[in-house]
Amino acid sequence: MLALKERLIIVSEKTHFGFESVDENIKAKKVKNVFESVAKRYDLMNSLMSGGFHKVWKRYFAKILTSKNNSKILDLASGTGDICIELANQNKDFKIYHTDINIKMLEQGQRKIIDHGKIVSSLVCDAEKIPFPTNYFDCVTIAFGLRNITRKEKALSEMLRVLSPGGKLVILEFSKIWSPLSKIYDNFSFNLIPKLGKVFANDEKSYQYLVESIRVHPDQKKLKAMMEKEGFEKVSFLNLSGGIVAIHQGYKF
Ligand SMILES: C[S@@+](CC[C@H](N)C(=O)[O-])C[C@H]1O[C@@H](n2cnc3c(N)ncnc32)[C@H](O)[C@@H]1O
Repeated sequence: MLALKERLIIVSEKTHFGFESVDENIKAKKVKNVFESVAKRYDLMNSLMSGGFHKVWKRYFAKILTSKNNSKILDLASGTGDICIELANQNKDFKIYHTDINIKMLEQGQRKIIDHGKIVSSLVCDAEKIPFPTNYFDCVTIAFGLRNITRKEKALSEMLRVLSPGGKLVILEFSKIWSPLSKIYDNFSFNLIPKLGKVFANDEKSYQYLVESIRVHPDQKKLKAMMEKEGFEKVSFLNLSGGIVAIHQGYKF
């Protein structure tokens, strides 16, 4: 007779942690370790790695939401809160929820949001099990978060559930770059980013994970198909910076 723990390991599915294949039930722990390790240097590293471009992508992302005044917006995997700050800056009296599974990232974000003079609720929230009622939000946003989630389909179906009819999900995520640029991009990311991580965050491994996780994340068309499969309608995507990142949108009707 197998012990319960052994039986659980046997039934667990495999998933990616970067290029590594791991049991689904340990990926979340590994991702948690990555973000606990980088939380304090997360913003600095983003600016260094993207040459400041992450701010431009995030600002654009927040701009195209075009949500009406007073909308209730759930930002998942918010980390250090850039999207919440961009949304709050629109002065449309949005009720914004700054959420993440990782309390260290939330703490960094909460501090930054207060420094920007904004009032936003922060709470721990696993995107695979969203602690809000069905049909609650006008909009759900997630920036650079989906890639890190173990069961992406489960998270997408939760996002659909908490959206009210007519509401929309907007995803900003690394995606597949235009192929003529892929060699330069690969050289830059595989050679330079882990080194930047080593020098500025004292953590080469986490940034190696970051680079690898981008390569194993579904590309533009696959993610669109995943959203449609989970029940989103009128799904579309828009490439930014030659497909380094893409914005996907889908509605609940
Ligand atoms: C790359 S950061 C993105 C932070 C922020 N949205 C940004 O654009 O800068 C990814 C975040 O996803 C969070 N995360 C990972 N798995 C999660 C899950 N299942 N539910 C909610 N957040 C999760 C991590 O803790 C981390 O803060």
